[in-house]
Amino acid sequence: MGAGSLPIAAMVAACNRGGETGSPTSPVPRNSTTAALPTLLPTTTPATAPATTLAIDPSRPWWLQGNYAPVMDEIDATELVIRGALPPELNGYYVKNSSNPPGSDSPHWFFGDGMVHGLVLGNGAAQSYRNRWVRTEPYVAGLGFGKGAPGGGNSQSNVSVFWHGGKLLSSGEVGFPYELNIADLSTVGAWDYAGALTGSFTAHPKTDPATGRMHAFGYGFTAPFLEYYIIEPDGTMSHRETIATPRSTMIHDFQITETDAIFWDLPVVFDLDLAIQYINDPLAGAMPYQWKPEFGSRIGVMPLAGGADRIQWFDIDPCYVFHSVNAFRRGDEVIVDVCRMTSMFDTAVNDSLGGEPSLRRWTLNTATGAVADDVLETVNPGDLPSRDPRRVGREHRFGYLTGTRENAHTVELGAVIKHDFASGARDVWEPGPTRHATEPLFVPGDATDLSDDAGWLLSFVHDDAVGESVLAVLDATDLAAGPVAEIVVPQRVPYGFHATWVEAGDS
Ligand SMILES: [Fe+2]
Repeated sequence: MGAGSLPIAAMVAACNRGGETGSPTSPVPRNSTTAALPTLLPTTTPATAPATTLAIDPSRPWWLQGNYAPVMDEIDATELVIRGALPPELNGYYVKNSSNPPGSDSPHWFFGDGMVHGLVLGNGAAQSYRNRWVRTEPYVAGLGFGKGAPGGGNSQSNVSVFWHGGKLLSSGEVGFPYELNIADLSTVGAWDYAGALTGSFTAHPKTDPATGRMHAFGYGFTAPFLEYYIIEPDGTMSHRETIATPRSTMIHDFQITETDAIFWDLPVVFDLDLAIQYINDPLAGAMPYQWKPEFGSRIGVMPLAGGADRIQWFDIDPCYVFHSVNAFRRGDEVIVDVCRMTSMFDTAVNDSLGGEPSLRRWTLNTATGAVADDVLETVNPGDLPSRDPRRVGREHRFGYLTGTRENAHTVELGAVIKHDFASGARDVWEPGPTRHATEPLFVPGDATDLSDDAGWLLSFVHDDAVGESVLAVLDATDLAAGPVAEIVVPQRVPYGFHATWVEAGDS
């Protein structure tokens, strides 16, 4: 825990104190969603996604318009209004990171300064909301990403946030993570694992639910292009090694099984000339990674405990994957479920939106070297996935994704989707024509129920019509029923990237 921070349990306990609670709703048991649901909440799901109602000015960057636009105020609020009934078993801290440039311009959705938004929930109430910029070195200096080579503390720390080893850490996948004080989301500083970390650190580490170890990696613009890390439950980095790759490719996510670490080396390739252009004039928008399918695509499987010399590579058709749902091993086969795009940063096709998406299952036979790349869904396949954290690296049945709507001028988010990987069936909550959901973070419910839909999905939802942001809480067993609760956030929450949940008592 960061110096000076308070246990989440203490903050949650305060939810029961007079004058600090949200709306006086009665707790409802899990799955009793409809009985206590007030009419304020949508309960029906259209058969198809609504047509876009979002007006975008194509002459200006889409990431500076509508609810992608940054907010300029840092606020603290209590006594949040709740519509519906917040499950009393949600006791903890929901924190989400986002790209929030403090100026009036930004070269890309990915290149705004990190801002975290946090809500403390407990005992059926929403105790507080606050948002803070991550006080990174470039933020404090007012430099953005435009001065000097990124790395170390020179990171916007704007992609994800996670709790491990007693620290709340934000990451922008470039440079070091930043430690945040969990009591107030203030910034402690860049964290290099007591000097053990010298390169970058992914925004998508994976914590093994059996061991508590966090497995992670970093990719570099210069050699070493890829490094693998293991962090012990106490926060000590116990393992670091280089994985030999021929060039710098953008690797946003990876996966683990009980025995394997899995990387994908895909042809979004670092271009030094473009990087120099970017550093000299970031607003010119020269993305330093470009689509170069001639370099091919491959998936690497190596021992979870380390041993990059034993990595086994599997070639696949050129594609790009930001995010994966989960992975697991079944005998000789390693299975990975991913959100795949036909290309990314392909300036010949588009400027920022990527190619055609699909939900895929990679099956890698480590005995024969065979690989299968099966299409699971092509109609609104979804991205920004989550899964039951108790199933990380273990066979899962369900995954949760964010849907999109057809819009040529922006990434228009839409529905919350539950995908059944056993049957292919989908359960969808469509929030309405003017409302847009974001990453649905799965939070386990009853600790004795290990089903990987026994829990809740937390998603910031924005309504363009009224300018309102809420944190929607859905029962993961029945998305179509609509949220069991919506917590009204007292300011707009821009569409961000990734959230985490810190259970009360864990901090
Ligand atoms: Fe991500």
